[in-house]
Amino acid sequence: MIFDLNLERVRNRPGIKWERHGSDVLSAWVADMDVEVPDFIKEAVVARINEGGLGYGFYDEPIPVLEAFKSRMSHAFDWNVETSDVLRVHDVIQGLEWVLDTLTPPGSGIVLQTPVYPPFYSSVEGTGRNWVANPLMETEDGWALDFDHLDQVAARDDVSALLLCHPHNPCGYVMTATDLVQIIEIADRNDLVVISDEIHCDLVYSPHQHIPAASISDIAAQRTVTLTAATKTFNMAGLRMAFVHSSSQQYLPQLKEIRPRMIGGINGLGQVATVAGWEQGDAWIAELVEGLDHNRHLLSELLSEHLPQVRYRPPQATYLAWLDCRELDLGDDPAEVFLSRGKVALNSGLDFGVEGAGHVRLNFATSPEMLTMIVERMASAV
Ligand SMILES: Cc1ncc(COP(=O)(O)O)c(C=O)c1O
Repeated sequence: MIFDLNLERVRNRPGIKWERHGSDVLSAWVADMDVEVPDFIKEAVVARINEGGLGYGFYDEPIPVLEAFKSRMSHAFDWNVETSDVLRVHDVIQGLEWVLDTLTPPGSGIVLQTPVYPPFYSSVEGTGRNWVANPLMETEDGWALDFDHLDQVAARDDVSALLLCHPHNPCGYVMTATDLVQIIEIADRNDLVVISDEIHCDLVYSPHQHIPAASISDIAAQRTVTLTAATKTFNMAGLRMAFVHSSSQQYLPQLKEIRPRMIGGINGLGQVATVAGWEQGDAWIAELVEGLDHNRHLLSELLSEHLPQVRYRPPQATYLAWLDCRELDLGDDPAEVFLSRGKVALNSGLDFGVEGAGHVRLNFATSPEMLTMIVERMASAV
């Protein structure tokens, strides 16, 4: 059982999640899971060390991790890619900044579906571009993209790109084929780059399905740059290995013009771990998603019992819950109150944009027992 965890061990785990706030605080903030490193990752990394293989890796093809990327995308998402269209980076957000710098003009507008993962704002601002919000709409049936508004902002002269969080962090929305077709149509009509961050692609609950944005049509393939990694799926963010993919005849040559030293060399252990995950991880992912699925429903029950004023829609993907705490009257930043009074560390909704006032993000990738303690502590704070 992936979530059958030794909680003492979890609370003393090295890393930012559990170390930042000290061991008397329960941590449900940064997007790391409380699970153990999967055996196939551990064995691959240890084997590489035991072989004495910590030297330089190959810079030229065949690079095993690119072959693994190709077969994983085909096998998991029915998406056929060429290894020559894949570029390695150390992390997804590094890839995002590279793409923004290379493919969008300084000072131009980048459309985000807000509220959204905080580095989207900082990377757009940090590269000297401006973010343009296209807020997600909350309907009776769940989250939805506001296509009327998207149509308007996409037509602005200053806008150069649509940045997708697909699946969406923090709302857990999974874009459908219909959504993607419409997005690509809008992008094509307005000559915009589509940058699709798909790092949460494996953590999708049935009946929802991840469809890579670039895979839906030939036009999508020409319009899209995909950012992804295996690090979220296998809980190994510290191993720093991510990918930028584009088969666009326009974008790919430009992306390849970067000076390689700006990207840095190959992270040998990240590569070994990614190959092991993609080649051997199917059963583990299925078990993980089953455990997360259980937790996302358990969270509903816990909130109804202990904090009925909190509004929560179980996500369609990711292990992140976006909680609307406005009825609790804890001000704009309830995370601060839950931390100081309840000793629970959540993410402040404010970091995800103006829509995040009165909201928190809770990471439920932990044991059911820990999740129960987290909600009980939150309730004790109000
Ligand atoms: C949507 C999204 N993109 C990117 C990242 C981070 O990826 P990396 O650490 O490879 O930059 C995260 C981490 O939680 C994320 O949720």
